[in-house]
Amino acid sequence: MYRYIYTSRSVFPMGDISDLDILREADTRNRAEHITGVLLRDPTSFLQVLEGERTRLMRLTKDIIKDPRHYAFRILQRGTVAQRLFPDWSMGYVAVGATTMTAFHDLCQTSGPMMEEALKALAPSLTTAQDRRP
Ligand SMILES: Cc1cc2nc3c(=O)[nH]c(=O)nc-3n(C[C@H](O)[C@H](O)[C@H](O)COP(=O)(O)O)c2cc1C
Repeated sequence: MYRYIYTSRSVFPMGDISDLDILREADTRNRAEHITGVLLRDPTSFLQVLEGERTRLMRLTKDIIKDPRHYAFRILQRGTVAQRLFPDWSMGYVAVGATTMTAFHDLCQTSGPMMEEALKALAPSLTTAQDRRP
């Protein structure tokens, strides 16, 4: 199992319809490729945790990097892990404030139980593309 965490700056503001487009695309493809994870969103940035089979993740992140809806892509961590943090989420979404985002940004540059527990604690706040379908 492989995990890949990055941050980027969004071209669109938080709450823009493009977030929903991203979630819908992610939901479809991630289900098909057994990729799971979470997308944190604050007013200006994204932080995404992706987990799954390594070659699939490498292919996906290559596509995500090229996506014009964001820029300033920066890897926070990547590597082999024992298990998924978000096994039930094809792509969970949570909007947070800038302070919370900074905290996760810092945490995700470390690895280990503190960072994993903090991410897992997001689970009750997550929504999916389906929850948001009009
Ligand atoms: C911040 C961000 C996160 C994204 N996350 C995912 C994702 O988890 N899975 C996914 O398939 N696409 C994701 N996308 C969209 C991809 O960049 C790409 O548009 C999508 O995979 C389209 O795939 P296709 O070539 O199969 O149509 C994301 C895009 C952005 C801007």
